[in-house]
Amino acid sequence: MLSQSSAAVVTATLPAVQAHGETITSRFYQRMFKAHPELLNIFNKGHQATGEQPAALAASVVAYAEHLTGGGDDRSWELILSRIAHKHASLGITATQYTIVGRHLLAAVGEVLGEAVTAEVAAAWDEVYWLLACELIAREARLYTQAGVGEAGSVWRDWQVVECIQETADVVSFRLVPADGGPLPTFTPGQYVSVAVDLDGGRRQQIRQYSLSGRPGSTHWQITVKRVRATGDAPEGAVSTFLHEQVTAGDTLRLSPPFGEVNAVGDEGPLLLVSAGIGLTPAMSALHHLATTETGREVVLVHADRSAADHARRHELPDLAEQLPNLSVLLWYEEAAGEAVDGLKAEVTAGRVDPSRIPLPAGAHIHLCGPVPFMYQVRAELLRRGVSKDRIGYDVFGPGMLHD
Ligand SMILES: Cc1cc2nc3c(=O)[nH]c(=O)nc-3n(C[C@H](O)[C@H](O)[C@H](O)COP(=O)(O)OP(=O)(O)OC[C@H]3O[C@@H](n4cnc5c(N)ncnc54)[C@H](O)[C@@H]3O)c2cc1C
Ligand code: HEM
Repeated sequence: MLSQSSAAVVTATLPAVQAHGETITSRFYQRMFKAHPELLNIFNKGHQATGEQPAALAASVVAYAEHLTGGGDDRSWELILSRIAHKHASLGITATQYTIVGRHLLAAVGEVLGEAVTAEVAAAWDEVYWLLACELIAREARLYTQAGVGEAGSVWRDWQVVECIQETADVVSFRLVPADGGPLPTFTPGQYVSVAVDLDGGRRQQIRQYSLSGRPGSTHWQITVKRVRATGDAPEGAVSTFLHEQVTAGDTLRLSPPFGEVNAVGDEGPLLLVSAGIGLTPAMSALHHLATTETGREVVLVHADRSAADHARRHELPDLAEQLPNLSVLLWYEEAAGEAVDGLKAEVTAGRVDPSRIPLPAGAHIHLCGPVPFMYQVRAELLRRGVSKDRIGYDVFGPGMLHD
């Protein structure tokens, strides 16, 4: 809990910190990377360029200060903490690094707000930072223990690529086994791994997350990666392009254990999976999992894609439908008139998803994954139909979360 004296100072200075939140975190990153260039290897260079990561960090510190001073609701805060801790654990963040971040973050607050930051104000925000840091460090320590990552151990393990499957023009699946021949950790559909690759001839490491897109308990892991093409001023994606162009069967990749707070299959009862584009990866894992564990489960799969040709792994659907007799499939393809999938009883519609036509089995657990505007649109319709927020799980393939 925040001390009473700090709570008053934080409440009084919250609006100023809120107003300058992103300037503070941008300044913080500049300072920190100058003092610790080695940290550039764990942060996403693209997110720094687009400002997405500074925005996510600023938002979470301000939200926590609000929470400590009596604002916000506990449930949404619990979700935020859990999401950050899982992401950090997948990156192998250490307790020592929190000291570095804390030092530079608080120095940046001083630089941006100037004289307004008296010793009392600095001490109050230091307290906020460390309360948040301690929460996260404790959660991350638990996650490391659960994943079998020992104290001071690295999260990284070498995996051998045993197969690369070109799913569509822009999507490749990689099948992987542990390079040391050891056992495969189990995971829940919806969980992801971090993949670390060396770019620029080994001068720079970059890490990205990829959902495990195969069946838990299988003899290999599978990730399914969409190549991010250059558009306008935005360059091609660094890691997805590397994976597509440079990685072939027999190569080794560094992977973290599985992490992620989202369970795409829910506990029991009907399941509604709504995905768009490459957002199909958690849903594919969920379907393969249920096809061997709960074949009688009522499942509705709604998937939106640009065209049938862009819809990765659609050829797996007929077999899945055979194994899951209570599976209904609704597909929306933007660019083509409805196109059937051989051997699959599916409703195929041309155009963008019409959320009002998404079937909603009573009491269903719902999982969404796709571009953020798509998820907002679908979630708004589901909420309008009376679904409670806690029945809607979702994965965002970037920093941040859905807000109310
Ligand atoms: C939990 C989770 C699960 C995920 N699962 C999957 C999955 O199953 N499959 C999958 O394909 N992806 C998945 N992703 C997304 C994946 O992690 C990567 O974000 C994605 O592959 C793009 O990475 P990249 O290195 O290729 O692109 P980046 O280099 O990170 O670029 C991302 C975007 O930023 C833009 N950008 C970069 N630099 C600049 C700049 N200087 N100026 C302007 N714009 C810039 C790029 O043009 C691009 O549009 C997941 C993400 C998360 C968080
Ligand atoms: C109290 C301190 C911290 C807070 C509040 C915080 C907050 C966040 C948030 C909100 C995200 C985005 C999560 C998501 O939605 O995916 C994130 C990601 C990340 N954090 Fe932290 N963080 C803290 C400490 C640290 C530390 C100590 C490090 C290591 C130096 C670190 C490194 C990272 C990295 C590398 C990412 C992913 C970056 C990316 O994808 O661009 N964080 N953090």
